[in-house]
Amino acid sequence: MPGPLPLARIISTGSYVPAQSLTNAELAQRVETSDDWIVERTGIHERRIAADGELASDLAVEASRRAIAAAGLTPDDLGMIVVATISADQPLPSCAVHVQRKLGARCPAFDVAAACAGFIYGLELACRFVATGTRPILVVGVELLSRLLDWSDRETCVIFGDGAGAVLLGAGQEEQGLISYSLGSEGDFGALLSVPAGGSREPVTAEALRRGRHYMRMDGRAVFKWAVRMVSDVGSDVVRHAGITMDDIDLVVMHQANLRIIDAAVEGLGVDRQRVLVNLDRFGNTTAASVPLVLDEAVTTGRLTRGDHVLLMGFGAGLTWGAGVLRY
Ligand code: ACO
Repeated sequence: MPGPLPLARIISTGSYVPAQSLTNAELAQRVETSDDWIVERTGIHERRIAADGELASDLAVEASRRAIAAAGLTPDDLGMIVVATISADQPLPSCAVHVQRKLGARCPAFDVAAACAGFIYGLELACRFVATGTRPILVVGVELLSRLLDWSDRETCVIFGDGAGAVLLGAGQEEQGLISYSLGSEGDFGALLSVPAGGSREPVTAEALRRGRHYMRMDGRAVFKWAVRMVSDVGSDVVRHAGITMDDIDLVVMHQANLRIIDAAVEGLGVDRQRVLVNLDRFGNTTAASVPLVLDEAVTTGRLTRGDHVLLMGFGAGLTWGAGVLRY
């Protein structure tokens, strides 16, 4: 496992979710499902859906503005913008350049496409940059998945939701930053969760559209099994490499994929349930946005204090994972 990434500090956080909520009962009027099935199998009660005309970059910008304001800074102060997303406004240019333009910032901006691990990939990159003197870096996780879903596919459409979370990262003390981390990918399993058409492999054609090849497809059961094993193994590894024990972890901020995966993590890691934050009941699985959304809630509700150890975990399409112990 790589060495620590010190001298990086979360200066502030922000988040934004669209106003419109879609409950399980409302979904059950569109596809063959029920509130009972969704709650029992996933823990999700409702999710947010972006309004017509609202773009992924709009959600990201709103979350970013809140993070920048909370720090008492302006977009001019930014040294870099990193946007983790799999549902950018368009294939080209990146979502990040739209965020840069809308904020009025003047700095490099780029996307990270690592699905539900994307925010942690972005955070790791940003820690490296701020430790070497780069001005504060905005790391955003944003998804507008409601437009990538096949609303007749009950295996995906009940799970996902729209939202954005942002973190402003700056130079910190020696004891702050990622004291251990692990990033990885297993591309052999890419087909378990994918959007088949829309890239150079399978350009969008009338036939692809007719067959719904431009929508997200998922083998939920296979991803579920992999995720349960991954969170226990990689979560335990990064805590051990941080030189601390699970009792020293003040907060677990993990990707909100499914309450049963979160429950398995509680059991596999042997961590106190009270220290594991959950928001998927209200927002569903927001992919790259879920970790920063939870993080912002932890900060704004006073669940995080300087010096706390936070166990971060993300996992998803790729398959990819990112985990780390952050000293806040
Ligand atoms: N409503 C009612 N019944 C349903 C629904 C639904 N929405 N969806 C599936 N079913 C049925 C299935 O057809 C199946 O019926 P059968 O037994 O007659 O064949 C039955 O329910 C069980 O289906 P499973 O797929 O085994 O259900 P499971 O308990 O695995 O739950 C779920 C499905 C929620 C998708 C789960 O597998 C999961 O959460 N997977 C992980 C998702 C994840 O972590 N993704 C990665 C992050 S996201 C990203 O990277 C973009």
